[in-house]
Amino acid sequence: MAQYDFANYINGTWTGKELDTITVHNPATGDHIGSVPNAGEDHVKQAIDAASEALPEWSKKTAADRSDILRKYFELIMAHEDELAEIMTKENGKPLKESKGEVQYAASFIEWYAEEGKRTYGRLVPGKRENHRIKVIKQPVGVVAAITPWNFPAAMITRKLGPALAAGCTFIVKPPEETPLTCMRLAELAEEAGIPKGVFNVVNGNPETFSETIMGDMRVRKLTFTGSTPVGRLLMKQGSEQIKRLSLELGGHAPVIVCDDADLDQTVEMLMAAKFRNSGQTCIAANRVYAQSNIYDELIKRLEAEVKTLNTGDGMKDTTDVGPLINKDGYEKVDRHVKDAQDKGANIVVGGEGEANSDKNTYFYQPTLISDANHDMVMMNEETFGPILPIAEYDKDDEAIKAANDTPFGLAAYFFTQNVSRGTRISEGLDYGIVGWNDGVPSAAQAPFGGMKQSGLGREGAEEGMEEYLEVKYVSLSI
Ligand code: SIN
Repeated sequence: MAQYDFANYINGTWTGKELDTITVHNPATGDHIGSVPNAGEDHVKQAIDAASEALPEWSKKTAADRSDILRKYFELIMAHEDELAEIMTKENGKPLKESKGEVQYAASFIEWYAEEGKRTYGRLVPGKRENHRIKVIKQPVGVVAAITPWNFPAAMITRKLGPALAAGCTFIVKPPEETPLTCMRLAELAEEAGIPKGVFNVVNGNPETFSETIMGDMRVRKLTFTGSTPVGRLLMKQGSEQIKRLSLELGGHAPVIVCDDADLDQTVEMLMAAKFRNSGQTCIAANRVYAQSNIYDELIKRLEAEVKTLNTGDGMKDTTDVGPLINKDGYEKVDRHVKDAQDKGANIVVGGEGEANSDKNTYFYQPTLISDANHDMVMMNEETFGPILPIAEYDKDDEAIKAANDTPFGLAAYFFTQNVSRGTRISEGLDYGIVGWNDGVPSAAQAPFGGMKQSGLGREGAEEGMEEYLEVKYVSLSI
């Protein structure tokens, strides 16, 4: 069996082999598949030194020169799609076909920002008096640090790295302890693509040590984080001392409204993707469905037929549609949500059982469809992060919009209707940063991904994602 043992990547050097290691396991089999160093403060500081030293030269390059390097990086990622996908499936558990989709999605951010970097324009504004001009320019923020999650081991890195590098910033990432291996292979490819030393650094280790060191160092001008809302809140507190610039992509609790004029074939296809992708472990996963009363039974019947076809297992097998949950904590949360719903009157239409093997450290949960859901149930109020789809009934659109918005979260929401007026009203009434209208897969490099309320700050992707890595300066000029 291939073993993936990596060092840290700091200042173009593979370093830290002498340190204690973090062991990486395959969540589908429990096998030990690789390791990375467990770096302390010293290594984080070395990475900050390297990124600071590399900044002047990288930021002064022309956008076209940076674009050429990013383009080469994109091509290398695509050329290694199969290899990266295999590493990802082994460390994360998602089915190989989904991993390939993620590698393409990850690469698309590098490709898109290789182009967008060339369009970072300022503007010239007429002055307030004769012979006065105001010149607005945009400059790179500086050294950027990133903390990324295990659910998208490649895309959550490139969605930050692409715009940061295109803008002229240098970058330090701490990948997750559960899934660092894909990131390390991406770092090897970055080196091969000619990204200069110190521009892209990877430090593995304890997240608290990383964030405390980053937040205490004035040379790091920004932290970008994808993860839970409680950790995001903590980072905001830590960052307040130095007024650190922050982008936070945090938790969600996505509602889905299915109107009685929806195309049910399309709805079911999209809902299956929005729910069961990555075993439901995505921040934009459909977490709760509100179906209008007159199509409620029919929707459940159709979903039941589809959910029954899903095979759970090792993502390396062609037949697998739904992989394992990442770990015991994830499993226990899902199980708690299902038991709570059952206690409060839910009907399990399909699934409802887990398979936990604590000796092997593997945790699977059956794709589960639940009817008769109501708002007393925990899963209708909290993100489940598992393959569970609860459905409640509604009568009037306003009632469904109100229930959909009744949460501190505001990342993604979905609705299905063929009626343009009705759809426009619903889309404008939903307090969410991402709204899928007849669409269960809204993510794309050219779309500004991000949340309202406690789902975060800032956007990733699109031109808005570029702004996150730019400072605005104006030069007030008397001529
Ligand atoms: C996430 O779960 O945070 C990312 C989902 C996506 O990019 O589609």
